[in-house]
Amino acid sequence: MMGKAAVLVSCIILLAQGSAFAHEGETHGTKHHDAQMVKLHKMMPMYAQLQAKINGALGRGDAATVEIEAGKILATIPDLKKAKPHKNLKKIGTFRNMADAFGLGVTTSATLAKRGDIAGAAAAFRKAEEKCNECHATFRD
Ligand code: HEC
Repeated sequence: MMGKAAVLVSCIILLAQGSAFAHEGETHGTKHHDAQMVKLHKMMPMYAQLQAKINGALGRGDAATVEIEAGKILATIPDLKKAKPHKNLKKIGTFRNMADAFGLGVTTSATLAKRGDIAGAAAAFRKAEEKCNECHATFRD
């Protein structure tokens, strides 16, 4: 009797685990878009912080910091291009183009900073910031 009960209990545990796994798989399958949205949502406050650091560094002519902080943005561009906005999802091609243009502005800024051209770096970064705003105008709700 005890033996049967123990078997039954372990069956129930296995079933419970099995369904938990199945449920997890299902969640990942159906909410794939949401995972990409969550990523975007986490990325953006970081962009705001890096933007402030880069502008601060540009203001005091600190090229090394511009390069470092720009590098942190550049590391996220592949993820930005894979991200999915909540709004205007139909225009995902435009979203990716804006992500590219943003990345290009940040790359140019870092390159010019490295060459000691702080004015050029600042101008390039302002172009990148225009892409922040353009993208938000279409895709941020
Ligand atoms: C290619 C598109 C794109 C670019 C470029 C972009 N963003 Fe965003 N951003 C979005 C979208 C879409 C949202 C709203 C989605 C969300 O937060 O879930 C957003 C939201 C935000 C938010 C609000 C976050 C929150 O918690 O709701 C901030 C802050 C932000 N962006 C800052 C920036 C800054 C600063 C830059 C440039 C340095 C930038 N973004 C560049 C698409 C973009």
